Amino acid sequence: MIDFLELQDMLDRILGTGPAPRHGMFWRGVSRDEFVAKRVYGIQVIVVNDPASSGLVKALRGLAPFGSDLTPRPAGAVMPRMPMRRPPAPEEDIVKIEEWIRGGCPDIVEGKRRRLPLTASTSDQLHVDYWRAVDHFFHPRMADPVTGEHVGRMHAGAFLIWEAAHLLNQPATQWTDFLSQPEVQSSVNYLREQQNRLIGEFYGADSAAFLDSLWKFGGNLLPNDPLSNIRPRHAMNGTLDWFYWIPQLDATVRAGNLTPTDLMLLRGWQVGLVADGLLRTDAERPEGERIPIHDFMAGDPNVKADVIATFTAMDAASLLQKMQDRAHDFFAPQL
Ligand code: HEM
Repeated sequence: MIDFLELQDMLDRILGTGPAPRHGMFWRGVSRDEFVAKRVYGIQVIVVNDPASSGLVKALRGLAPFGSDLTPRPAGAVMPRMPMRRPPAPEEDIVKIEEWIRGGCPDIVEGKRRRLPLTASTSDQLHVDYWRAVDHFFHPRMADPVTGEHVGRMHAGAFLIWEAAHLLNQPATQWTDFLSQPEVQSSVNYLREQQNRLIGEFYGADSAAFLDSLWKFGGNLLPNDPLSNIRPRHAMNGTLDWFYWIPQLDATVRAGNLTPTDLMLLRGWQVGLVADGLLRTDAERPEGERIPIHDFMAGDPNVKADVIATFTAMDAASLLQKMQDRAHDFFAPQL
């Protein structure tokens, strides 16, 4: 029996590459409970325990109200079979989806590898799955409009305000005033909740696995992802993207009541950024545009373990200070 994460991957695969449909990848960025409650164009996607009544199965099989593009056209068909204008879903996938629905749509299936301790060979695949899910939820090209608005509010524009208060000697109140606005608070909370949810789904409380993921993401060390809708490999696009993440992390620490997952993310940011600065020498990181790292050496054989141990031992206040130092080192020549 597949679990919910496998169902999500399967639907990505069935969708294939190409532009996302207007209804979005509605199976992504939701919990299992949210997914089974979903309606798309008024059609109930899932009827738990009842595959034949579930819109998803009808959509993939081209059963009414789907199938308007099929010959013979089923009575009552008003929409094409899904995925529209693309190859039909393989029969064995549809059978697994039916089984999943008949079995009560389990979120987790006991004994599935994702919930077990990681081994070196399974971890890269888990990381790739995680970063694809992050893209699907947060990337401007795929995020739903609500998510897009929250991300937009806490991104480059927020960074300029943070930068003014932290690197350009302007009053600290510029930043705290910005943070105290109700819509900013609501974006901070939303993004925090969703980041925590995704980390929890993929890594649970396994901080070591999560930091391994950030190291490989930062250092461009992950294998290619044939299911990626953006770039073939998950890595940070540009160095500035690390810094545009600061406003949200700073706001999270200031909000107090940090969860262990919040801390994992703060540490992960350091680990990823350090890996980017030390390891990336590819065409996207020409000399002179790399993130300067003064506290670790790329050639040190223990560098990865040292970086991870250093940040795992650091508390939130030190992590915040270190984040500011990194930004200072990076932007100093231009300040
Ligand atoms: C209850 C489930 C579904 C409903 C009601 C539904 C409905 C629709 C409708 C009305 C359209 C045409 C308008 C638009 O572009 O948004 C559409 C397009 C599309 N759907 Fe679905 N869909 C469902 C499930 C799926 C699934 C599971 C997939 C893929 C795994 C999928 C893939 C696509 C694609 C690729 C297009 C657009 C193709 C194009 O623009 O060329 N749909 N869907």
